[in-house]
Amino acid sequence: MLWLFLCIVVVDVLVATFEVIVPNKHLLAIRGRPAVLGCEFTSGPDLSSLVITWQRQEDSRVVHSFYYQQDQLDRQCPKYHNRTSLYVSELHKGNASLRIASVRPKDAGWYLCIVSNAKGTGRALMEVTYGALYSEPRLSILVNASALKVQFETEGFPKPEVIWLGEHNQNLSYYLEIHDQIEDGLYIIKSICEVQKAVVNVTFTLKNHLLNQNLQRPMFLNYDEDTTDHMIIVLAVLSVVCILLVIGIIWLALKKQNEQRSSL
Ligand SMILES: *[C@@H]1O[C@H](CO)[C@@H](O)[C@H](O)[C@H]1NC(C)=O
Ligand SMILES: *[C@@H]1O[C@H](CO)[C@@H](O)[C@H](O)[C@H]1NC(C)=O
Ligand SMILES: *[C@@H]1O[C@H](CO)[C@@H](O)[C@H](O)[C@H]1NC(C)=O
Ligand SMILES: *[C@@H]1O[C@H](CO)[C@@H](O)[C@H](O)[C@H]1NC(C)=O
Ligand SMILES: *[C@@H]1O[C@H](CO)[C@@H](O)[C@H](O)[C@H]1NC(C)=O
Repeated sequence: MLWLFLCIVVVDVLVATFEVIVPNKHLLAIRGRPAVLGCEFTSGPDLSSLVITWQRQEDSRVVHSFYYQQDQLDRQCPKYHNRTSLYVSELHKGNASLRIASVRPKDAGWYLCIVSNAKGTGRALMEVTYGALYSEPRLSILVNASALKVQFETEGFPKPEVIWLGEHNQNLSYYLEIHDQIEDGLYIIKSICEVQKAVVNVTFTLKNHLLNQNLQRPMFLNYDEDTTDHMIIVLAVLSVVCILLVIGIIWLALKKQNEQRSSL
């Protein structure tokens, strides 16, 4: 009976093994925003023996470490300096999640969450993917006598899908320029759609599929043709007035000459 009891206890201990788990193996991190890399472990009776190390899997750079019940950042990679924190009040619950304050392009990659305490040691691997939301597109309009160019400029990551639609939702042809700013983790996008002056409505659409971002900027082009008609009328009236003035001056001059002649 005692043996059976002991066996159950031993089995129990074996089953309740120490575990480190990352609930989200693929995390999408957005430029400039905080990212929380989730990690859970089997919590122990106290924090005195707890050691947590977050490191990059590719090159073992230290992202954050904690032992002797406090952050230990002497060996932290400078790229993560002042940007990382653990949820210290959650540690006793087995929460070793890491917060990165403001995501940068080079934060993308593989992270190891390594935890040990009185109950054991374990590790879990997760991937962080980087994306940047496209900024509000800046609009420019270039006009000449016969055509009109509508241009939008914006930046984000990764490369977007660009669509220009006409007034009957038909695809319009366009020009697309993509500048690669690898260091900044951004693509600078410039897209131009050239339309004949008869076209009135165009819509610029930009999709960042990774981040589910869909920017749609409709444009309503209103050609006030009356203005040119008015201008022509005004010009015509002005010309007639000018001609009349000239005729008047000549007439006056001739009249004066005649008067002078008759007075002689
Ligand atoms: C850990 O704690 C943080 C902060 O309260 C919370 O956002 C996160 O969801 C927790 N993670 C896990 C795995 O419980
Ligand atoms: C980190 O933060 C401290 C205190 O806020 C500051 O003095 C230091 O310059 C910061 N270091 C970096 C690299 O930002
Ligand atoms: C207007 O611009 C288009 C393309 O940029 C060009 O083909 C056309 O000749 C220009 N028209 C005039 C009147 O300058
Ligand atoms: C252009 O768009 C405006 C606003 O949606 C709409 O009222 C108008 O009918 C459109 N014009 C054409 C020719 O589709
Ligand atoms: C316009 O082009 C997109 C892809 O660029 C395509 O998915 C869509 O079906 C096209 N629409 C029309 C009306 O041709």
